[in-house]
Amino acid sequence: MIPKRVTVAILGASGYGGGELARLLSGHPGTEIAFLGARGSIGGTLATAHPHLAGLPEAGLVLEPIDAEAVAEHARVVFSALPHGAAAELAPGMLQRGAAVIDLSGDFRLPAAAYPEWYGFEHPAPEWLDKAAYGVPELFGDQIAGAALVANPGCYATAAILGLAPLIGSGMVESSAIRVDGKTGLSGAGKGATESTTFNASEDSIRPYRVPRHQHTPEIERGLELATGTPASVLFVPHLVPAVRGVVTTTYAKLDAGITTEDLTGRLQEAYAGRPFVRVLPPGAMVDSKRVRGSNVVELQAVADPRTGTAVVVAAVDNLVKGAAGQAIQNMNLVHGFDESAALPTAGLYP
Ligand SMILES: NC(=O)c1ccc[n+]([C@@H]2O[C@H](COP(=O)([O-])OP(=O)(O)OC[C@H]3O[C@@H](n4cnc5c(N)ncnc54)[C@H](OP(=O)(O)O)[C@@H]3O)[C@@H](O)[C@H]2O)c1
Repeated sequence: MIPKRVTVAILGASGYGGGELARLLSGHPGTEIAFLGARGSIGGTLATAHPHLAGLPEAGLVLEPIDAEAVAEHARVVFSALPHGAAAELAPGMLQRGAAVIDLSGDFRLPAAAYPEWYGFEHPAPEWLDKAAYGVPELFGDQIAGAALVANPGCYATAAILGLAPLIGSGMVESSAIRVDGKTGLSGAGKGATESTTFNASEDSIRPYRVPRHQHTPEIERGLELATGTPASVLFVPHLVPAVRGVVTTTYAKLDAGITTEDLTGRLQEAYAGRPFVRVLPPGAMVDSKRVRGSNVVELQAVADPRTGTAVVVAAVDNLVKGAAGQAIQNMNLVHGFDESAALPTAGLYP
């Protein structure tokens, strides 16, 4: 039986991911926001942290200190939108008290051995890593339904994996030497300002960062292997671009002989037929991050270049919606048996 109102907590409610969770969950027919957790913003309200949410019924909810026991007392589902490392400490206490946890950070996306190298810490709760469902609903929906712990994927990883998995799975492209070029708007860095995210540093600037050590590299490899059963090798080069929202990944992979753009496109269309949040563009059409802004949609485009034997797959998501809060809600909808699309927009904001 589907419960009438599922109580939810948002940890990191004062941040960008937390604000998007509150904005979208406020319109969810089956949930009630019962707890908002933060750190420096404790004592303020949702509306003081996010003045653009002042019109919501939940605007006056007060941001509370985060304590696993108190959170689990208030909520059956916890959305954790905290910096890397925080959920790994907090989640076990909430899970043991019976709350489901959907974590937007990278804390439950990789095997324990990868954390020192890619995140810079020893994982404090490795026994939970195998129990976490990897939350790409279009690929792992069966494992997400009923899961206690969901590792919500990274924004770049969501885009790259959705674009490539069906093509590797069908043998149309090879998984051994994948190149992913990523671009992100500045909201991907969260609300904490640093010199490199100021207007002065970012306006008119396009620059790579963390090459070749970005933490989504092993996540893309692992996600592709989970989806296809084939090990993948990925070189990932992310860039910051002077936009607010939007992630675009352009992926290059070796194309099987004789495969055409129509074959690649047809495979993606078949893999995602009937999926509300995947839009596969017809041959010749080009992805645009602006079209998915504010929506939970990923746009995909695939091109075969027989001259170089390369498949090019381009994917765009709104980093804060399909790349974070929207996908987390899509996962909760599956965990709790709600309509997968509940509270999630398919139309973008344009222009
Ligand atoms: N931004 C994106 O596009 C995006 C996409 C996918 C995934 N993510 C992931 O989602 C998580 C949140 O990202 P964000 O962009 O929303 O970050 P953010 O805007 O910087 O917000 C971080 C939130 O966490 C709270 N916080 C910070 N340190 C804390 C601590 N030690 N203990 C408890 N609370 C703490 C902050 O509270 P106060 O402000 O009250 O101090 C704030 O509410 C990160 O793990 C990020 O990697 C982000």
